[in-house]
Amino acid sequence: MKNIIITGGAGFIGSHVVREFVKNNPDKKIINLDALTYAGNLENLKDIENAPNYIFEKADITKEEEIEKLFRRYKPDSVVHLAAESHVDRSIADPNAFINTNVIGTANLLNMCRKYWALSPVESRGNSDGKKRMHLFYHVSTDEVYGALGDTGFFTEQTPYDPQSPYSASKAASDHLVRAYGNTYGVPFILSNCSNNYGPNHFPEKLIPLCISNILQEKPLPVYGDGNYTRDWLFVVDHARAIHQIFFEAKTGETYNIGGFNEWKNIDLIKELIKQMDEKLGREKGASERLITYVKDRPGHDKRYAIDATKLNKDLGWKPSVSFQEGLGRTIDWYLENQEWLKNVTSGAYQNYYARQYSS
Ligand code: NAD
Ligand code: TYD
Repeated sequence: MKNIIITGGAGFIGSHVVREFVKNNPDKKIINLDALTYAGNLENLKDIENAPNYIFEKADITKEEEIEKLFRRYKPDSVVHLAAESHVDRSIADPNAFINTNVIGTANLLNMCRKYWALSPVESRGNSDGKKRMHLFYHVSTDEVYGALGDTGFFTEQTPYDPQSPYSASKAASDHLVRAYGNTYGVPFILSNCSNNYGPNHFPEKLIPLCISNILQEKPLPVYGDGNYTRDWLFVVDHARAIHQIFFEAKTGETYNIGGFNEWKNIDLIKELIKQMDEKLGREKGASERLITYVKDRPGHDKRYAIDATKLNKDLGWKPSVSFQEGLGRTIDWYLENQEWLKNVTSGAYQNYYARQYSS
C-alpha cells in the first residue's frame, strides 16, 4: 500500500496518528483529509508539515464531490478514518451534525472505496495481513458504542452494541456500515474501539484539558452530577501507536478494543490533576480544590466505561507505553508550555487564520 488517506488528521487523535504514519513510513504518501471544523487545527502538525511524504487537503466528508476529487487525484489504496464530530455534550445540543458527519460522511467514504478499488470478495474475506493486503478501510471508533457498564465488568469485542447518546449512536451506525460494506461489497476493513484519550492537543472542552485550563486560570471546575462517573483513560500517543500497529499487522475483518486498564472516577481524576498542577505551579498543596464546582448532570450520562484490551495484547503484543501518572504529567507540562495554543483555540483565532489559507 502506497497512498494512505487519513481523515480527521488535524484533530486531537488524528494529528498524533498522522505523525506516527508520516515518521514511520517514508516510502508512503500520507494524505491528511480534514474539513478544519472547530476541532481541526493545523497547528497540531507544525513539526511535520514540511515532511516530503505528507500532504494536507481541506475537504468535507459529507460532500461526495470533494472526496471523489481526492480519490481521483491520489488513488489511495487505504483509508484510516478518524474524521467525526466527537463531543457527547455537543451531540446532545445538535444531534444532526453528528448524523451527517459520522454516518453520512462514513458512507460517502465507503462508497468511494467501493467505486475506486477493484474489489473481489476474496480480498475482504481472505484474512490477509498487512503484507499481502491491497486495500484497507481502517475505521477508528469508540468504546461508547457498547453503552454503559455497572460497577463491574469490561467491554470486550463480543459485547453487544447499546449506544446511549446521539454521539455513540452515530458512531455505532458508522461501525455497522463498515462491516456491512465489507460483507456486501467486499470492502476490506479493520475496526478498533478505544477508551477515552488524553494528551497534548486535546480541545479544551473535554474533561482533562478543560480542567487543566481552568486550574491554570483559577476558574471553576464543573463536575457533572456526583462526580462518580468512571472512564478508562489512555495516553493519545499509545492510541496512535496501536492504530499504526493494527493497520500493518492485523488481519482484514478484525476488530480490536484499545484501552489502558486505567479507570478513574471523574472526581478522583480532577483531584489528581489539582495535586500535580498545584505542585507544578508552586501553589499551596490542594489550593485549587476550592475550584471544584458540582453542576447539573449531563442527560443520559453513561455511568462507567472500561475496556478489556487483552485480544490486542495477545495477538499483537501491544500494551500502553506510558503510565497514567507520567502521561498526565506530560500532558500538563505540554499545556503549560503551549499557553498560546490554548489561547488560540479558546478564542477561535487559529480558525480564522487557516480558513484564510485554505479558502477556495
Ligand atoms: P476531534 O473532534 O478532536 O477531531 C475530529 C477531526 O475531524 C477534526 O480535525 C475535524 O476538523 C475533522 N472533521 C470533523 N467533521 C469533518 C468532516 N465533515 N469532514 C472532514 N473532517 C471533519 O476528535 P478526536 O477526539 O481526535 O477523535 C477522532 C476519532 O477517534 C473520532 O472518530 C472519535 O469518534 C474517535 N475516538 C475518540 C476518542 C476520544 O477520547 N477522543 C476515543 C475513542 C475514539
Ligand atoms: P468527556 O471528556 O466529555 O468525554 P466522554 O463524555 O466522551 O467520556 O467527559 C469525560 C467525563 O467527565 C464524563 O463522565 C463527563 C464528565 N465531565 C464533567 O464532569 N465535567 C465537564 O465539564 C466535562 C466536559 C465532562
